[in-house]
Amino acid sequence: MLVYLNGEFVPHAQARVPVDDRGFLFADGVYEVVRVYEGRPFLMDAHLQRLRQGLAALRIDDPGADGFADVAERLLDQNGLRSGDATVYIQVTRGAAPRAHAFPPAGTPPTVYVAAKPFEPHPPAYYRDGVAAVTVPDTRWSRCDIKSVSLLANVLANQAAKEAGAFEALFVRDGIVLEGSHSNLFAVYDGALVTYPACNYILAGITRRQVIDLAEQLGIPVVEAPVPLDRVFAAAELFLSGTTTEILPVTRVDGRDIGDGRPGPITQRVQRAFRESI
Ligand code: PDD
Repeated sequence: MLVYLNGEFVPHAQARVPVDDRGFLFADGVYEVVRVYEGRPFLMDAHLQRLRQGLAALRIDDPGADGFADVAERLLDQNGLRSGDATVYIQVTRGAAPRAHAFPPAGTPPTVYVAAKPFEPHPPAYYRDGVAAVTVPDTRWSRCDIKSVSLLANVLANQAAKEAGAFEALFVRDGIVLEGSHSNLFAVYDGALVTYPACNYILAGITRRQVIDLAEQLGIPVVEAPVPLDRVFAAAELFLSGTTTEILPVTRVDGRDIGDGRPGPITQRVQRAFRESI
């Protein structure tokens, strides 16, 4: 497999970053995961827009994000990924420099890595029957809107979910259920979708935006508001949204059934509309 590293296309096995890279030392960087359906990147422009916002927020010089769509196309071609499912991974760090907390000298080039690889979708049964989630305390920092490679809290949360036999961990901060370790959360009450407002406490998912837009087209009301934990258990339906997660019903939280314990009709409408939008 060929990958793109700092302006060059190189075999994956030969791609190397220095041990002084600030991504390695400080998790000082941002990333994107883009889904590819039958060789076509889905919502690439929105992902690149969010990447630019993340770079600006971290004050990392834009290393030419405009060109990343072309890089992705070339990787999909060269790696034979024009059919089936794939993902494109993009990561930019503040570059390599002797370890010191403050920024490296001006002109230190950011490290840019882009890779495309086949993606194994989750089993169809997950989408048909739903999955379980567990709640965990949100131990993340308060700039969750930045898609930073600093994902330790997300890693620990998702591992806790896995060990509990669940698909996803839902972060709870001050009694409010915000989002998953790698997905956004929607609840359904009286036929309306409720999801936490896009602010510094969640990642404004590209799929979340797509769901909101589709719901508007379907005439399903959307409310961006906090959902306290006890209200989660009272939801008629719950589902997750995300690039690799797509639209996934959650039928159990902390071992308790949501609604009748089956994916609900609103979730299924959103799933169908999402499929059709690809
Ligand atoms: N995760 N919230 C968090 C914390 C996430 O990490 C993600 C995505 C989302 C959903 O965002 P989007 O719809 O743009 O994928 C929400 C990616 C896929 C990952 O880390 O693999």
